[in-house]
Amino acid sequence: MRASEPSLVMRRLRAGDLPALTHHLLTLAPEDRRLRFCGIVSDELIRRHCDNIDWQRKILIGCFVDGRLCGVAEMAPLADAPGTAEVALTVDHDLQGQGIGSELLRRVIVLARNRFMHTLHMVCLPENMKMRRVAQKNGAKLSIHGTEAAGRIKAPWPSYLTLAEESLSESLDLVRTAFDTVSHQPARHH
Ligand SMILES: CC(C)(COP(=O)(O)OP(=O)(O)OC[C@H]1O[C@@H](n2cnc3c(N)ncnc32)[C@H](O)[C@@H]1OP(=O)(O)O)[C@@H](O)C(=O)NCCC(=O)NCCS
Repeated sequence: MRASEPSLVMRRLRAGDLPALTHHLLTLAPEDRRLRFCGIVSDELIRRHCDNIDWQRKILIGCFVDGRLCGVAEMAPLADAPGTAEVALTVDHDLQGQGIGSELLRRVIVLARNRFMHTLHMVCLPENMKMRRVAQKNGAKLSIHGTEAAGRIKAPWPSYLTLAEESLSESLDLVRTAFDTVSHQPARHH
């Protein structure tokens, strides 16, 4: 008998996903945590980072494998530079190298275009070759400034395709949530 394929779902994260997001970031491998936050950060700082997320403003996309949140893209619009946002990615170590990071970034770019964001910034450590590759594959221009590598993606205006992709994916989320809710209801006895 063949083991069943793992289920993979990518969707927008909502405030209700806060516990899963906090757990994902807290359980990153130590080196990945350092790369994500460009330095050594405490559990306390990560908890604060998660608790302070403004869910109305920030856009987060999560990748769930067999129900576990194992990849996240965070896009934070920059208040002092309209039309621009900063993006950060994380993928659990055991699932890296399988295209999840690249797909999360591609999806973030679609959402950014649909919101008329023209520029996305990514900051990482210069030795972070995986992030540099993922950014480059998605069209980023990279530059190194001392101890920082900065990526800049220019996003064109939305197209019918980007708008259709987002609306289809939101509809699928809605259907998925409805099915999840129904399947968690106690069985009705007549
Ligand atoms: C950066 C990160 C999100 C990438 O996620 P991922 O799922 O591994 O990414 P992908 O599998 O889509 O792509 C990784 C790419 O890096 C390439 N790569 C891996 N090791 C590499 C290296 N040493 N040098 C150059 N490229 C490398 C892979 O071959 C792949 O490119 P390809 O698709 O052309 O083959 C993930 O490694 C991570 O979470 N790192 C820790 C947190 C972090 O660094 N975040 C970025 C700062 S915000």
